[in-house]
Amino acid sequence: MTTDPISYLPNIAIDGPAGAGKTTVAKDVAALLGYRHIDSGGMYRAVTLIAIESGFEPSDWNDDRRLLAVARGLDIDYREEAGETRIYLGGRDRTRDLRDPAVERWVSVVASVPEVRWALVDKQRSLARSGGVVMDGRDIGTCVLRDAPVKVFLTAAMPVRVMRRLMQKHCTGSPASWDEAASSVVERDRIDSTRSESPLRPARDAIMIDSTRMARCDVVSQIRFMVEGKIDRRSRVKR
Ligand code: DC
Repeated sequence: MTTDPISYLPNIAIDGPAGAGKTTVAKDVAALLGYRHIDSGGMYRAVTLIAIESGFEPSDWNDDRRLLAVARGLDIDYREEAGETRIYLGGRDRTRDLRDPAVERWVSVVASVPEVRWALVDKQRSLARSGGVVMDGRDIGTCVLRDAPVKVFLTAAMPVRVMRRLMQKHCTGSPASWDEAASSVVERDRIDSTRSESPLRPARDAIMIDSTRMARCDVVSQIRFMVEGKIDRRSRVKR
């Protein structure tokens, strides 16, 4: 029987609430393993950004046909540049615009629309078809990549998550107070975990990692060991 562990590149699902550090950790894990990083939240942000730029009003958010058209037509490309994952929409780098306060304000609402989710889940699955993808989000382990051999649910204590959110806002040029950041994290959690379609929750087979007192590199190492264990086990089974 042949053994070719190199040809087997598992997908890695990293889920968790806002501010848990998923995207940072996913990017590091992907860089370490030479995998592709897909920030699935970027897709929901992209649909929100395009809808805002197309003149949608808050009252339009419930018009799922219009949002679905945006989601289906989404021309999104993830590119690794200088150690960062950049998100291109229609050939333009829009990474920074995806963090715009207006996008922040509405993205959870857009992500609650089932039709939008179905369209984006299709895109996410097709990006992961060949394996070797680290995808972070809210429903990757429970829905998008249900068969992923490595699933992580990353959490952190609320003050740590609020602090990370504050730093993120500072870095993207839209500083906020502690109270504003705290209420945005709480509200994001509420909407993400109570929506009807694929709410935020850990997959039954996910490994829980609480990063409150862990250094970023230790979280990354833990995930790397999980991946190496899977590749090892698979190559032994094949033999
Ligand atoms: O991870 P993020 O902050 O970029 O996510 C933006 C929003 O999209 C947030 O409300 C959660 C939602 N989201 C989702 O519902 N499912 C995903 N797979 C990824 C993000």
